[in-house]
Amino acid sequence: MNILLIGKTGQLGSSILAEQTTHRIYAPDRAELDIESKESYERVIAEFHPDVVVNTAAFHNVPQCEVEPLRAFAVNCQSVRDLALACKKADTLLVTFSTDYVFGGERKTPYREDDRTRPLQMYGISRLAGELSALATAPQHAVVIRTCGLYGLSGASSKGGNFVDKRIADAQSSSEMEMGCDQVVSPTYTDDLAQAVLKLIEHPQLVPGIYHLVNEGECTWFEFTQAIYELLNINVDLRPVDRGGMSGEMRRPLYSALANTKARDLGILLPHWRDALQLYLNIKYRDKLVK
Ligand SMILES: NC(=O)c1ccc[n+]([C@@H]2O[C@H](COP(=O)([O-])OP(=O)(O)OC[C@H]3O[C@@H](n4cnc5c(N)ncnc54)[C@H](OP(=O)(O)O)[C@@H]3O)[C@@H](O)[C@H]2O)c1
Repeated sequence: MNILLIGKTGQLGSSILAEQTTHRIYAPDRAELDIESKESYERVIAEFHPDVVVNTAAFHNVPQCEVEPLRAFAVNCQSVRDLALACKKADTLLVTFSTDYVFGGERKTPYREDDRTRPLQMYGISRLAGELSALATAPQHAVVIRTCGLYGLSGASSKGGNFVDKRIADAQSSSEMEMGCDQVVSPTYTDDLAQAVLKLIEHPQLVPGIYHLVNEGECTWFEFTQAIYELLNINVDLRPVDRGGMSGEMRRPLYSALANTKARDLGILLPHWRDALQLYLNIKYRDKLVK
């Protein structure tokens, strides 16, 4: 298969590129393909003839989307709609990503693909609009994958660290810390996600539509941080703090764990988040691991 990968420097993009695969993957940098420039991806699609376009690019700085809602819609909705149209015209499958933040957090069990969406802030609203735009524009060509709480090896370092790296760095400078216990999430390792994405693309029974792909299980950010420190035997006085999902005036969902029901039906299952975290720490922090 010819795969055009957008966002190769990101956490997920670099995990996809690192996968051993027989597919031909073309991963232009942002200077060559910018999802805000129709001309750039139409040209690359015409030259490379991809069977699948995998778009990992997004404007996903959540607080900044409150400040720049027009930009959030330009990148997360309009560009996704235009890309979906270009894929439909070229008879190419579009795989694009979305977020657990399309949900409102009223549930207490993992959200399924067809559960009611109710985003609470501009970020989630712009991502939901992007999902709807892709599916309305190219219903036979668009696959939307919702995921949650990503951490990965290479993209993380190029962006000054992901959640896991940041907690490990925090522990170097502080022996006490507070961490939110108000949000329940499904933290996901991008190497596991990358493998699942490729399995999904390759699956003969794949039909367009929305899929959830996250590591199994759920936890609060407090519990996730506890697990990081336990596995690395880092001694920090870690205290849970309940902010009721609020970041200033902005609301985050109190519960946004996802259930991978459709991928599971196709036999695609990601490991539990604890196993994924252990693997990530094994690779990146081998020298610090508790024996
Ligand atoms: N990170 C999370 O916790 C999380 C949670 C739920 C869903 N998701 C979604 O999962 C997907 C992958 O996330 P990630 O963490 O891998 O993202 P990431 O590390 O921020 O990487 C994003 C990639 O997209 C590129 N990009 C950004 N804007 C672009 C544009 N206008 N044109 C072309 N490329 C552009 C970036 O390039 P530069 O290096 O040049 O910036 C980077 O390579 C995204 O859709 C994200 O919203 C992420």
